[in-house]
Amino acid sequence: MVKGCFLLLLYYTCLASCYTNPKGAAPPNFIFIVADDLGWNDVGFRNPQMRTPNLDRLAHEGVILNSSYVQPVCSPSRSCFMTGYFPYRTGLQDGVVNVEQPKFLPLNFTTLPEALNQLGYVSHIVGKWHLGYCNWSYTPTYRGFQSFLGYYSGAEDYYTHYRKDTFNYTSLDFRTDKAPLTTRRGEYSANIFAKKAIDIIRSHKQNQSLFLYLPFQSVHEPLQVPGEYEDRCNHIQDLHRRIYCGMVNALDEAVGNITDALVETGLMENLLMVFTTDNGGPTYVAANNLPLRGAKTTLWEGGTKGTAFIYSKNLLTKKGYLNTGMMHAVDWYPTLLQIAGGDLGNIIDRDGVGQADMLLNGGPSKRDGFVYNYYSGKRNGSAAIRYGHLKLIQGSPGNYSDWTPLPKLGQEPLVLEDEIEFPPYMLFNITSDPTEHFDLSAKYPELVDEMKVKLEEWRKRGIPAQNPPKDPKSNPANYGGVWSPGWC
Ligand SMILES: *[C@@H]1O[C@H](CO)[C@@H](O)[C@H](O)[C@H]1NC(C)=O
Ligand SMILES: *[C@@H]1O[C@H](CO)[C@@H](O)[C@H](O)[C@H]1NC(C)=O
Ligand SMILES: *[C@@H]1O[C@H](CO)[C@@H](O)[C@H](O)[C@H]1NC(C)=O
Ligand SMILES: *[C@@H]1O[C@H](CO)[C@@H](O)[C@H](O)[C@H]1NC(C)=O
Ligand SMILES: *[C@@H]1O[C@H](CO)[C@@H](O)[C@H](O)[C@H]1NC(C)=O
Ligand SMILES: *[C@@H]1O[C@H](CO)[C@@H](O)[C@H](O)[C@H]1NC(C)=O
Ligand SMILES: *[C@@H]1O[C@H](CO)[C@@H](O)[C@H](O)[C@H]1NC(C)=O
Ligand SMILES: *[C@@H]1O[C@H](CO)[C@@H](O)[C@H](O)[C@H]1NC(C)=O
Ligand SMILES: *[C@@H]1O[C@H](CO)[C@@H](O)[C@H](O)[C@H]1NC(C)=O
Repeated sequence: MVKGCFLLLLYYTCLASCYTNPKGAAPPNFIFIVADDLGWNDVGFRNPQMRTPNLDRLAHEGVILNSSYVQPVCSPSRSCFMTGYFPYRTGLQDGVVNVEQPKFLPLNFTTLPEALNQLGYVSHIVGKWHLGYCNWSYTPTYRGFQSFLGYYSGAEDYYTHYRKDTFNYTSLDFRTDKAPLTTRRGEYSANIFAKKAIDIIRSHKQNQSLFLYLPFQSVHEPLQVPGEYEDRCNHIQDLHRRIYCGMVNALDEAVGNITDALVETGLMENLLMVFTTDNGGPTYVAANNLPLRGAKTTLWEGGTKGTAFIYSKNLLTKKGYLNTGMMHAVDWYPTLLQIAGGDLGNIIDRDGVGQADMLLNGGPSKRDGFVYNYYSGKRNGSAAIRYGHLKLIQGSPGNYSDWTPLPKLGQEPLVLEDEIEFPPYMLFNITSDPTEHFDLSAKYPELVDEMKVKLEEWRKRGIPAQNPPKDPKSNPANYGGVWSPGWC
C-alpha cells in the first residue's frame, strides 16, 4: 500500500513534467468526434459488412485504440469527456439525463473547453449535449463553447428534431446558440451537423487553436436514414440492420466531408482527430458488439469497450497500428490539455491521466485500472472495476448478457431479457478472456477479496447520484412548444 502510494505520487509528479509540447509549436487543433451508440463490430475496419471507407482510412493511417473504455450510456460518457472525472464522482453515474429531469453536470467542474480556452483555444460544439439544460447556466454556451448547433437532450427524430415526453407529446429540441432552430425541419441531422462543422472550419481565424467537439446524433435510435445511404447497404437483408448500416455510412460520409474541409483550409497540418463512440452498441436496436459480451447499458465489455481511433498528420511518431494500451474516457481531458501544452498541476484529484505518450508515441499506458461504474441508488449498487488483467463485477452487470449475433433476415428483433440471477461477485481475466466467458470467482476467492478492497477504496471517493423525479415544469408548452431552460 505504502509502495503503491509512493509510485502513484512519482507517477503524478512525472505527468506534470515529463511531457512537454515541442518548443515553439502552436498548440494543435482538436476535433473530437463522438458517435452515439456505435457498437464494437459496427465499423468497416472490424466488420466488412459495414460501409465506412473514410473511418477505415483514418483509422488505418492513425492509431486504432483497442482498449478504450467508455460508460454504459450516453450522459455519463459525455461527463467523462467534459470533466476528466468518473461519473460516480460527478453524480451522473446512474444513467442519462432525461429531458424532463432537473439533472445536470455540476457547475463546479471546469469543462474541457473552459480549460482549453484558458490556453488560447476557441471552442465550438455541434450536435448532442445531454449534460443538463434546465437552467441556462448548464447549457453549452455557458460552459466554454462559443457556439452551439444541436440539441440538449437525446433520442430525437433525425428530421423533425422533435423529441417525446413521457406521454409521447413531441416538441422541438434544436437550437443555434440559444435560439430555437425551426428552419431545418426535414433535413437529416448528419448533413446539418457536417455542414455546420465545415462552416466553423472555413471561418476559423487561424491565429488561434480550434477545439471542435462534434457529438453526432448518428447512430442512435430511431432507425432513420435517407434512402441513398440505405441503398449502399443493400447487401444486408435484415431491414433494421440495413438501415443501421446506412446510418453509419451517413456518419462516415459526414466525417469524410469534414476531413476534406480540414485539408482544404490547412487546419489538418497541425491537428489531432479523436473518434470515439459514447458506449457499446444497443444490440436490441440493430447494433453489434461481437465478439464482446453484452450491450449498451451493461457493465460487460460490450457495453463499455468502445470503438475509437485517433488520426493526425503531424503529431504521431508511431502510426498505422493497433494500440492495446488501457485508456478510459476520462483520460481525454488531461491528454488534450497535455498536448496543448497545458499545466496538469491539479491532476492528483482527477481520475483522468495524461496519455499523450501512449497515443502519440506508442508508449506504455499510464493507467493500470479504472472504475467501469459504481451505481449509487439504481441497480442495487452494481459496480465493476478493472485492475491489471482482472475485472471484478459486483451484482448484476445489467440485462443483455449475451454474445448477440448479427441481426439476420427473418429473425425477430431481440426483446428485453429478464434479469438473470448473477452471483454477488464475478471475476474475469480480460487479458486472457476478453469476451468474458469464464467467471474465475470460485477458483480465485483470494483475488476476489483483493479486488473487493480496491472497489471499496474507489467507492469512498464517490458522491451520491442525482436522481431527481421528472418535473412537470419542464413542459415545453410553457416555452412556446420548445424544450427549454428556465425551470430549475
Ligand atoms: C464539486 O462538488 C462536489 C459536491 O457536490 C464535490 O464532491 C466535488 O469534489 C467538487 N468537484 C470539484 C472539481 O470541485
Ligand atoms: C408511447 O409510445 C410507445 C410506442 O412508441 C408506447 O409503447 C408507449 O406505451 C406510449 N406511451 C404513452 C404514455 O402513451
Ligand atoms: C458530403 O458532401 C457532399 C458533396 O457536397 C454532399 O452531397 C453530401 O450530402 C455530404 N454528406 C453529408 C453527410 O453531409
Ligand atoms: C486573431 O486575429 C484577429 C484579426 O484577424 C484578431 O481580432 C484576434 O484578436 C486575433 N486573436 C489572437 C488570439 O491573436
Ligand atoms: C440487492 O443486493 C442485496 C445485497 O447487496 C441482495 O441481498 C439482493 O438480493 C439484491 N437484490 C436484487 C434484486 O438483486
Ligand atoms: C432488466 O429487465 C427487467 C425486466 O424487464 C427490468 O425490470 C429491469 O429494470 C431491467 N434492468 C436494467 C438494469 O435495465
Ligand atoms: C490472466 O491472463 C494473463 C495473460 O494470459 C496471465 O498472464 C495471468 O496470469 C492471468 N491471471 C490470472 C489470475 O489468471
Ligand atoms: C482487441 O480487442 C478484441 C476485443 O476485446 C480482442 O479480441 C483482441 O484480442 C484485441 N487485440 C489485441 C491485439 O489485443
Ligand atoms: C439558475 O441558476 C442560478 C444559479 O446558477 C439561479 O440563481 C437561478 O435562480 C436559476 N434559475 C431558475 C429558473 O431556477
